[in-house]
Amino acid sequence: MKLSGDSKVSDIVLAEPKAKRVFEDAGVDYCCGGGHSLQDACLAAGTSVEEISRRLRETGGTATAEDAHWTSAPLGELTRHIREKHHGYVREAIGRVRPLAGKVRAKHGEKHSELAEIEELFLEVAHEMSAHMQKEELILFPYIEAMEKAFRAGASLEPPFFGTVQNPIHMMMREHDAAGDLVKRMRKASGGYLAPADGCTSYQTLYQELREFETDLHEHVHLENNILFPRALELEAAMLGRSGS
Ligand SMILES: [Fe+2]
Ligand SMILES: [Fe+2]
Repeated sequence: MKLSGDSKVSDIVLAEPKAKRVFEDAGVDYCCGGGHSLQDACLAAGTSVEEISRRLRETGGTATAEDAHWTSAPLGELTRHIREKHHGYVREAIGRVRPLAGKVRAKHGEKHSELAEIEELFLEVAHEMSAHMQKEELILFPYIEAMEKAFRAGASLEPPFFGTVQNPIHMMMREHDAAGDLVKRMRKASGGYLAPADGCTSYQTLYQELREFETDLHEHVHLENNILFPRALELEAAMLGRSGS
């Protein structure tokens, strides 16, 4: 695609999935901030449209098929993928990182006061994400799956208690912003997850885990904000259009 400062970040990653890696490395927000223009996103990340264009050219532009697959695969397949790959990962990571963060803070916290803040931020994002994923798994995803099933069968669907699917989607997007913000603060407090020279193996492992947690969260939120949610909104509009005709 032709890149300009006005291009929407989410459109760029959908057209060119390799851009995710470039954005990730440059600190450009492509998931929560996917709706922003490239110009604004670059400004917020302290980089430029020219620099991003240069890096994108260097990747060679051979797109992976994954996002292309999710823009057309059944929504039920996408919600299952998100549950198994990303929700599963978040739960496992919380189980590993929570005790590790406590251990590293107890051992090095006196000399590295930022460890207390990092542990606090992690506990907060862990708590928020656990509740968030539960809402998706119990309310939003089953409704999207039921909509798709009804649409295919040409059947109608009882109106949900939340009115329109826009409501839980907007709530989930606000929660993505909050989680994204906590992770940004963790990155800042840890100096970009670079363990100090006197950091032991546990310290290094903690930062490695936090870095992976951030990367997975970006990919997870990208799949929801930029692919699943817009497709669910389109499906609801199509169903309303059909029942109104
Ligand atoms: Fe999710
Ligand atoms: Fe989510």
